[in-house]
Amino acid sequence: MQSVKRIAVIPGDGIGIDVTKETIKVLEKIQNIYDLPLEINHFDYGADRYLRDGTTMPEEQVKDFSDNYDAIFIGALGDPRVPDMTHARDILLGLRFKLDLFVNYRPVKLTDQRLCPLKGKTEEDVDFVVFRENTEGLYVGMGGNFKKGTPDEIATQEDINTRKGVERIIRYAFEYAKMKNRPKVTMSDKSNALRFGHDLWLRTFEEVGEEYPDIVKDHLYVDALTMQMVKKPEQFEVIVTCNMFGDIVTDLGAQIQGGMGLAASGNINPQSTSMFEPVHGSAPKYMGKNVANPLAAILTLGLMLDHLNFSEMNSKIEKAVVEAIKTDNTTRDLGGKLGTKEVGDFICDKIG
Ligand code: IPM
Ligand code: MN
Repeated sequence: MQSVKRIAVIPGDGIGIDVTKETIKVLEKIQNIYDLPLEINHFDYGADRYLRDGTTMPEEQVKDFSDNYDAIFIGALGDPRVPDMTHARDILLGLRFKLDLFVNYRPVKLTDQRLCPLKGKTEEDVDFVVFRENTEGLYVGMGGNFKKGTPDEIATQEDINTRKGVERIIRYAFEYAKMKNRPKVTMSDKSNALRFGHDLWLRTFEEVGEEYPDIVKDHLYVDALTMQMVKKPEQFEVIVTCNMFGDIVTDLGAQIQGGMGLAASGNINPQSTSMFEPVHGSAPKYMGKNVANPLAAILTLGLMLDHLNFSEMNSKIEKAVVEAIKTDNTTRDLGGKLGTKEVGDFICDKIG
């Protein structure tokens, strides 16, 4: 019997609320049937709370998550009433940085050939994972303005790459490949143009790679990577890249696996609390209309349970999701006719 795992749930904004509701329904169903030792607590961080009392993500809350929780589930963040996304940045990027969630794990797996926009590609061709560095790069928020708002304005945005940060994500990618018997790791950077920061990536990849003689080391500049993801996705097993490039290539990845409605992700600190969120945004105009696709969030729940050592539950979730897709028990974005809630019911049924 495992010790009780504590899970914090933040539905967030827009359709985040709709898809989280279905996800928690699935989680509670699993918990009831399989008697998983889980404690689930809900938190109202998001645009409403921010507009009501100015709260984004309090320091004490970050500490509470870090000390007392095993995982955090987030629906989505973003609301037109907060155009500069202050709350979303504080919550999402704040948790990524403050909990040191240096691994952004984004699997790209096509579940049904019909959903792939690439001609002739099948389920076997699109099946890889992306590890996006999640705590450095252009995202650290270092920089500033000079003469802001004038024709002479200067804006700088620093790209931070540390040996420690680059090494740990590259090592994580190799360890994952080793553990899952993936034969190859592809590192993607722009070291032909970015001669300092990305030269560090290239040297670190070569050095760390020497410790893994059985794994093929592959290197692609990021422009070539995007081209190859479209042209020959079957060549990829494990991709590791920096924060900014990882953001971009995982949206491309989401499309070739069937769209944002199916893209799941985990923000992982292997030693501490981790956070799980679907890749999609909050799509405010679809909020509360029972049209959002909950499958990305439900697959994200699977990643979370897998991370908490309930791997069998992840397999059950994946199986149920594949069945929903194969039998057209899906929302309109995937060609089905169901609403958010009905898709959630279908998954609950299959799991039962
Ligand atoms: C993502 C999102 C975020 C990011 C935004 C909302 C800041 O696009 O999780 O991919 O850029 O990381
Ligand atoms: Mn993104």
